[in-house]
Amino acid sequence: LNYNVNRERRYILEVLFNGLRRLEYRGYDSAGISIDFALSPLDSGASVVTTFSRPLVFRKEGNIESLVKFVYEEVAASELNLEESFTVHAGIAHTRWATHGEPAPRNSHPQTSGPENDFVVVHNGVITNYEVLKETLVRHGFTFESDTDTEVIPKLAKYVFDRANEGEGEHIISFSEVVLEVMRHLDGAYALIFKSRHYPNELVACKRGGPLLLGVKELTDDVGSGASFPEFKILKNGQPKELFFSSDANALVEHTKKVLVVEDGEVVHVKDGGVTILKFDNDKGKNQGVLCRPASVQRALSILEMEVEQINKGKYEHYMQKEIHEQPESLRTTMRGRLIRGGSCKAKSVMLGGIKDHLKTVRRSRRIVFIGCGTSYNAALAARPILEELSGIPVTMEIASDLLDRQGPIYREDTAVFVSQSGETADTLQALEYALENGALCVGITNTVGSAIARNTHCGVHINAGAEIGVASTKAYTSQIVVMAMLALAIADDTISNQPRREAIIDGLFDLPNKVREVLELDQEMKDLARQLIDEQSLLVFGRGYNYATALEGALKVKEVALMHSEGILAGEMKHGPLALVDENLPIVVIATRDACFSKQQSVIQQLHARKGRLIVMCSKGDAASVCPSGSCRVIEVPQVEDCLQPVINVIPLQLLAYHLTVLRGLNVDQPRNLAKSVTTQ
Ligand code: G6P
Repeated sequence: LNYNVNRERRYILEVLFNGLRRLEYRGYDSAGISIDFALSPLDSGASVVTTFSRPLVFRKEGNIESLVKFVYEEVAASELNLEESFTVHAGIAHTRWATHGEPAPRNSHPQTSGPENDFVVVHNGVITNYEVLKETLVRHGFTFESDTDTEVIPKLAKYVFDRANEGEGEHIISFSEVVLEVMRHLDGAYALIFKSRHYPNELVACKRGGPLLLGVKELTDDVGSGASFPEFKILKNGQPKELFFSSDANALVEHTKKVLVVEDGEVVHVKDGGVTILKFDNDKGKNQGVLCRPASVQRALSILEMEVEQINKGKYEHYMQKEIHEQPESLRTTMRGRLIRGGSCKAKSVMLGGIKDHLKTVRRSRRIVFIGCGTSYNAALAARPILEELSGIPVTMEIASDLLDRQGPIYREDTAVFVSQSGETADTLQALEYALENGALCVGITNTVGSAIARNTHCGVHINAGAEIGVASTKAYTSQIVVMAMLALAIADDTISNQPRREAIIDGLFDLPNKVREVLELDQEMKDLARQLIDEQSLLVFGRGYNYATALEGALKVKEVALMHSEGILAGEMKHGPLALVDENLPIVVIATRDACFSKQQSVIQQLHARKGRLIVMCSKGDAASVCPSGSCRVIEVPQVEDCLQPVINVIPLQLLAYHLTVLRGLNVDQPRNLAKSVTTQ
């Protein structure tokens, strides 16, 4: 049999596969795709071949490339006619980070309503009431094959569709009405895309919680030019077009920069290339047993400020490596236009446009509460001392999930600062909702323009670090610290007493990219160190003051990518437990760069040394003899900067160490086991 995938079909498959490759950092344990096919075997011998189309679903455990291989093999081996030409096509694809159910084809997306694929759905998020829905659907005769929460969604869609069509031959409800009705029954957070056999060439997407974008690419210029897809002429209004749904901009930017950021509660219906946006209102029609069709809403498109090159690896082998090495540039971009050099009669200062109108309220607040997860939390911890010092306002730290678990007090007089690279982390978002309910002023610090944190906070600052693809955050961390240092400077802008200190920090910020470039020269040294540590089971990192956060973040990097146990330890707590672990085998990194805590760290080194600790000491350039008089420890010398900016410098050798350890261990540095870049589920 010779069944080729024709040019159009291959184009669609490749667009979907490439989209998945761009999204792979969001989840990579399994993947799936659904496209249409015409059921008309070429070798049937029949003179007239009846064709009808229905969604074809392929799902595979493993990474995207396993799916790609699988699809092409399946297609080649099948009796499907993929030669058929078409003018409109709707396909969907998904890469998964397992929440409910192990990574396996049956648990991968698209999930389907049954063997006929009446409805197929990809889902980002978690449906919290799926068990109840499942019971009901089972009672109505549905059988389930997966362990996922998602499977209830296509089945519910089929149930709604069948019920609405009972006794009728024609569709009496539209695809978006089916989805609106399904949404009424779903609890939890989600972004969904539906495809259906009953509505060929249509897609409906909706969201409550999870991020979702619609990219719009006009093909006018491409038509006839032999470019990407000249034959693809669609659209009622005569404009040939490609429309792309995606949970993040990375998958869109190579096609278009024109996007619509789908809002919570919106249902976007794509039909014949036209787009209708409906607003879901849970109260309307509730318990009335009627389908209620809301009026469509008009939304403006935004333009992505992003270049394709940003999301390519360029000359680097891995994204993490690229992102570590581009920190001089990313920090420059973070500070661009925000530092004011001053002059003869004008003080040096900081200008943060997104927060300037709220600074008075921040200064009056009873306390500042930093809220985040993972690396973003660590960045806030690194900035805490300078914020307290310059503003005089107490700063407390909250890991988002813990704040929610405790329902910790948040007051109207608080300023709550939400730190998140993605701007979409579910715990951080929920903590934001909680702080808004409690009346706090909410400030967002995020890397993602248009993200939920950027949209739902009262004000904020974008860190402008550029797209970060490596799952382990590196350049976003240093940019976050710099933004929070600038925030501290802006808050304290009205105090005369600390002006010299502020000016010294601003000078330090101007020079920071150069110092970062200098510390990156330690790359080879860190590779050598990684070689020495490659077979270790465990690594401790001791820090204090400004660099307690560095210890936590350095240890987190080693843990998450090199899969080596590693713990960041507050050096002041050494005698209260960690000292028991010290022997001549366990490697210990001690951060002892020059600042107010230096002499305390010297004494920590001596005490560790007295217990034969295997020490690797990070110190300021020229300090090797002061931190390691006996010469028996390994020393990493880093450039010295203003104390509050030192965490930006100090974390870099540890990022490099984690990177090299991982590569030397033969592990996947950009996609560490079990993790995902953006945790949009709780
Ligand atoms: C995940 C990522 C981390 C990140 C954390 C918080 O765990 O793997 O790299 O630090 O989420 O993400 P956010 O986007 O809120 O900064």
